[in-house]
Amino acid sequence: MEKYIINGGNKLYGGVKIQTAKNSVLPILAAAVLTDEKVRILNAPHITDVKNMVKILNCLGCKSVYEGDDIIIDSSSADCFEIPRALAHELRSSVFLLGPLTARFGKAKIAYPGGCDIGLRPVDLHLSGLKRLGVKIRENNGYIECECDKLVGNEIMLDCPSVGATENIMLAAVKAEGETVIKNAAREPEIEDLQKFLNCAGCKVRGAGSGTIVVEGVKKISGVTFQPMADRIEAGTFLIAAAMCGGEITALGASGENISSLLHKLRENGCKIYAKNDKIILKREGGLVSVKSIETQPYPGFPTDLQAQMTALCCICRGQSIVTENLFETRFKYAPELRKMGADITVVDRNAFVRGCEKFNGATIVACDLRGGAALVLAALAAEGKSEVLDISHIDRGYGMFEYKLRALGADIVRVAV
Ligand code: UD1
Repeated sequence: MEKYIINGGNKLYGGVKIQTAKNSVLPILAAAVLTDEKVRILNAPHITDVKNMVKILNCLGCKSVYEGDDIIIDSSSADCFEIPRALAHELRSSVFLLGPLTARFGKAKIAYPGGCDIGLRPVDLHLSGLKRLGVKIRENNGYIECECDKLVGNEIMLDCPSVGATENIMLAAVKAEGETVIKNAAREPEIEDLQKFLNCAGCKVRGAGSGTIVVEGVKKISGVTFQPMADRIEAGTFLIAAAMCGGEITALGASGENISSLLHKLRENGCKIYAKNDKIILKREGGLVSVKSIETQPYPGFPTDLQAQMTALCCICRGQSIVTENLFETRFKYAPELRKMGADITVVDRNAFVRGCEKFNGATIVACDLRGGAALVLAALAAEGKSEVLDISHIDRGYGMFEYKLRALGADIVRVAV
């Protein structure tokens, strides 16, 4: 167990190199099972979700190793189609392997996935999509079991644009006989990145980034060296940190286009933002003005993964805000922790009603999930006095070298063993 000790109040200045996107790397790691040639993922982020996914691949018989910052996956020796309960519980993205394992072995057996406790997080759309490709599915004793003689392309209409279901279906459809059309597909940039990866490996996928994705099945998928996109959520988190603390930072390697919904809100808050050529500069000098409402939506709407950080910012703006979480049911678990720091925040169902206060006070607070944990760190950085953030293993799932990067920007933050 480790915690952060943070002395708040420092302004943030300088450049921060944005890591490779967690939500891009995880499905790409799952895709590596589709080929028996080597896949090299360049500059993989040093986060526990990725390390756990690598563990799962090795448990399936793949040989995955780190070489510097790159991960090399050799799936030629993969000989197992079952993911044990303990590993699946560590990581929700283990479910991405249903499609690739079924495509490769004709079967897959995966315990119900774990991950951040932010709501019900069903996998019904993953399963109904795979069924449309000819997969027989049994749910038995906490396990999902898939089986098929062959995958056959089909038209699949998603009830809602689920990121994970879209990716899982793509990862099975690339090996199906004929054409698959996914309608009401998620449009997140990470899905375009997965399409890019798959096409580099010899697949035929088009339409990612729009609501309709067309996949023509292929017989052979090749090895590939690939640089996934930058992590727009990490970039957004640093920008919100600078907005809360004041100062001027540059997020290097991040595209403003992918988080334009956030940049739009931060400008309303009174920040100056300049985004061009994979570089986003944010400057905040004066006081923060509240935005009236923020509502999470599928891309290109405001990302649910930046909701907690943005709500923390609303707490220290002049005025009132309503934050509505439309994607996950229990994503305000950090609110009582912010109240310990002086925030005036009331949660009713999917809405958080925030009355801005002058500033946070330092306190001992507990991270309950990845993004909520990051929001608490930002609050502590902006607070007057000393804070301790406990249970930071949640934060390590998605932010690599977090405290190093923050210290380089001028923050006073250290990690200590409890
Ligand atoms: C992915 C991201 C996560 C992000 C989320 C929404 C990864 C590894 N994780 O998660 O960081 O917060 O997208 O942008 O990429 N749903 C169903 N049935 C299903 C699947 C989803 O009802 O079978 C619902 C969910 O309960 C939720 C909504 O669809 O309300 C969106 O979930 P989804 O897009 O699937 O999120 P994840 O893929 O789990």
